[in-house]
Amino acid sequence: MPSAPSIQEKARQRCHWLPDLSQHRGARYQGIVDALAHAITQGTLAPGERLPPQRLMADALGVTVGTITRAYREAERRGLVEAKVGSGTRIKSALSESDKPSFSHLSQAAADSIDLSLSIQTPHPGRHTLWTSLIHEFGDQTHASTLALDYQTEQGALAHRQQLADWLNQQSLHVDANELILTTGGQHADYLALQALVRPGEAVASAALTYPGMIAASRQLGFKHIAVPMDAEGIQPEALERLCQQQRIRMLYVMPEHNNPTGAHMSETRRQAIVDVARRHDMFLLEDGVQFVPAAYRGRPFFELAPERSLYIFSISKLLSGGLRFGALRAPAALVSRLTAALRAQCWSLPGIVPCLALAWLTSPQGNAIIDWQWQEVIARHQLLDQYLAGYTLSTHPCSFHAWLKLPEPWRAHEFVQQAASVGVTLINPDPFCVGSQPAPQSVRICLTPPEQRERLALGLERLARLLHTGPPLRMPLV
Ligand SMILES: Cc1ncc(COP(=O)(O)O)c(C=O)c1O
Repeated sequence: MPSAPSIQEKARQRCHWLPDLSQHRGARYQGIVDALAHAITQGTLAPGERLPPQRLMADALGVTVGTITRAYREAERRGLVEAKVGSGTRIKSALSESDKPSFSHLSQAAADSIDLSLSIQTPHPGRHTLWTSLIHEFGDQTHASTLALDYQTEQGALAHRQQLADWLNQQSLHVDANELILTTGGQHADYLALQALVRPGEAVASAALTYPGMIAASRQLGFKHIAVPMDAEGIQPEALERLCQQQRIRMLYVMPEHNNPTGAHMSETRRQAIVDVARRHDMFLLEDGVQFVPAAYRGRPFFELAPERSLYIFSISKLLSGGLRFGALRAPAALVSRLTAALRAQCWSLPGIVPCLALAWLTSPQGNAIIDWQWQEVIARHQLLDQYLAGYTLSTHPCSFHAWLKLPEPWRAHEFVQQAASVGVTLINPDPFCVGSQPAPQSVRICLTPPEQRERLALGLERLARLLHTGPPLRMPLV
């Protein structure tokens, strides 16, 4: 006669979802939360879906109810689930910051508000005229329309890669056309590198405060994203070393010139120390160069310091146009075929017309005029920042589109963003820059470039300075 099922077996049968903890090392509650996060990213658990009751899951996993309570509480803190009295714990259905359509916060902002929230180019006054003349010239070139209309190799046409390599070489970024893969902007290059080079179960790491697109990409791909502690130069090599000793980190994402959002700039000694850790632990380095800066303001890129393991992301989004969606990934020759295989599986190659137009513009005198104008404009806007926010703790780079303001006591970031909105200035909360459940600092990113006119920026900065000076509204504790 078959024996009666045990309590554990019965409980397992009644749970519609259970984490697999067989490979997990470390605290069990943490393993449950990680499995939960993975299941949400993979779509195994859908928004609104109810998690098994705590007692049932405890019996099914053979752990104490306390472990499950701790796991559910941690999952709630990480924004994965929400618990309601009477209806249990459910997968959070509200869109997380990284899932919200970008620019959605602007639609809520008053139309006449001064936007200091987005790291975008200041539109050059002659941009449309220059663009129209480029389109006319393009229409007269037969060889360019062949490149635009015919299928191209996944890596991008050699003529285009060579054109881009020549331009990058002029900017003292010494790359070979054979190491370049053309992409649909920087975000695509980021995603492609992760997708092609990191395997399921491996982790990626970045500074604890980083570009939200990287957080979204690693989350979308289901990778564990590890936050590395930072200091004024960004990622701390000693902390990275310790993390690497605890777990396998396959790829480290870096922005050495000026970290988005904190503005941290890495010295060459810091870069070398990071390379040493990467070599010791066989880790790829993914360097994001989308926030392009001129050679005179730049340190040595990682692909010069460690060419065998460094990938470099280029994009024209912060130089000429974010809408054209043109970028490239520089990779060691040995990795190119893995990356192009992934790109082929995604979309075969990027639309041929994009590199035709983007490169014609980038390499033209008109394009260069726009880029030169922009650097002068950005530098002039930094002078306004220094003028209005003198005395506050700002971290930035002379060519950065933004600065990171540490709010003076007792301001809190959410409150400052709210108060700024009430005086007609749009900012964003720092949460989207935080990796995992890292606490958000009481700091905000101030973007200098979105207002078309410098006067509007000055007005916005003046309003922020006034708020900082006045301090937050008095908070009375509830009694
Ligand atoms: C650091 C960083 N990387 C990548 C991107 C995405 O670039 P693209 O618009 O070329 O996809 C951005 C855009 O703001 C960025 O700030």
